[in-house]
Amino acid sequence: MRIPHDFTMGVATAAYQIEGTNFGGCGVNHWDSFAKSGGTINGENGAIACDHFHHWQTDLDLIKTAGFDSYRFSFSWPRLFPDEAKNPKGFDFYDRLIDGMLERGLSPSATLYHWDLPERFAQNGGWENRDTADHFGDFAQSVGAAFGDRLDHVATINEPWCVAWLSHFLGHHAPGKTELKSGALAMHNILAAHAVGMSALRTQNVQNLGIVLNMEYAQPASDDVADFRAAQIYDGLYNRWFISAICKGEYPADILQYLEPHMPKNWQDDMAQISQKVDWLGLNYYTRAIIKDDQSGIFPFGETVRGPLDKTSMDWEIYPAGLNYFLQRIHDDYAPNLPLYVTENGMAWHDQTIAGKVSDQQRISYFESHIAAALKARQNGVALQGYYAWSLLDNFEWAFGYSERFGLVHVDFETQKRTPKDSWYWFQNLLSQRGTIT
Ligand code: NOJ
Repeated sequence: MRIPHDFTMGVATAAYQIEGTNFGGCGVNHWDSFAKSGGTINGENGAIACDHFHHWQTDLDLIKTAGFDSYRFSFSWPRLFPDEAKNPKGFDFYDRLIDGMLERGLSPSATLYHWDLPERFAQNGGWENRDTADHFGDFAQSVGAAFGDRLDHVATINEPWCVAWLSHFLGHHAPGKTELKSGALAMHNILAAHAVGMSALRTQNVQNLGIVLNMEYAQPASDDVADFRAAQIYDGLYNRWFISAICKGEYPADILQYLEPHMPKNWQDDMAQISQKVDWLGLNYYTRAIIKDDQSGIFPFGETVRGPLDKTSMDWEIYPAGLNYFLQRIHDDYAPNLPLYVTENGMAWHDQTIAGKVSDQQRISYFESHIAAALKARQNGVALQGYYAWSLLDNFEWAFGYSERFGLVHVDFETQKRTPKDSWYWFQNLLSQRGTIT
């Protein structure tokens, strides 16, 4: 496998997962409260995480020496605005970080919201409250003004499905709500935030604006028509809802029939702004889900079925064909020729350092098969511009705390020692031999 010269290769992280909120005057966000109330393994949180706040230079060096072109990171809203007033130390931190990328020739790809909602907005209804979208617009405006001219690509929101559904209907992420009404409100308000954020960034003349969507391949459990129908609804809730709103200005009718009674008043008024033109789309892809008909709940499926394929330590099935499928589907059905990026892809494993080495052959195979699947879409004419591995470092994996390791670089959370894994060396080798695919 050869990586084309004009194909961006990068790694991704997110602020709350690596920075450490104990440092630099960072404010409280709703994950801190969620962790305290038992929402994460052992009450673990991002207080220290990878202490990237102090180790950012070493971390940027690790990206550069592996041979990557770009770094996808996120701005922490509570670090920049612990309360109404700006935190100068927070602004200084991202100034140094972005300049550090530019000095190393790494192109900055920034995300504005990667889940760390300031607690003061969470207290006021969070994503159930449409006002949060407007607060996000103000935040986007400030970030655009301070950093916009040094950013290569900017995404408003990371994974709206997780922000909305996983957090407000399934209850797995902060704030841990489990009601249809909460879910439906958040499913719209997070897209309203994207819309308001896009407009704010445009007024600052920030270039290359997009959003990062996560998609999961919905595989019917059998040929039975009921399983097909169930998988279709799963796909609608998970995948079609967001991309259809952004690219077509409408929600899919088969999903709207469930959510509409609970949506915010006058939600229709936001649709034109939600579907304003994006310059690119990011796809985060990890796995597939096997869906079986089950009529006992609100939706026609229940728990997903455990599949036969090899799995990661999180029990996620490894299914590279799904990545190819979504890239092609976005191009064919939603956004022909729009520049696309795989903004996240990777796997968790319970890696250990043995004599200063981490052998993670499973992860290397995972990357190899998924990058090949992505490049195949590009060869077929999909405007895929780049691929970002998740993640640079082992980090705070949300509800799973520090138990699940996704890094190319192992982190000892006691000492903060970084040890590049074999997968890091694999990338270094791959990226040193770029060329046209033979
Ligand atoms: C997607 C999220 O954006 C990221 O924060 C998370 O760590 C990975 N998936 C792995 O679950």
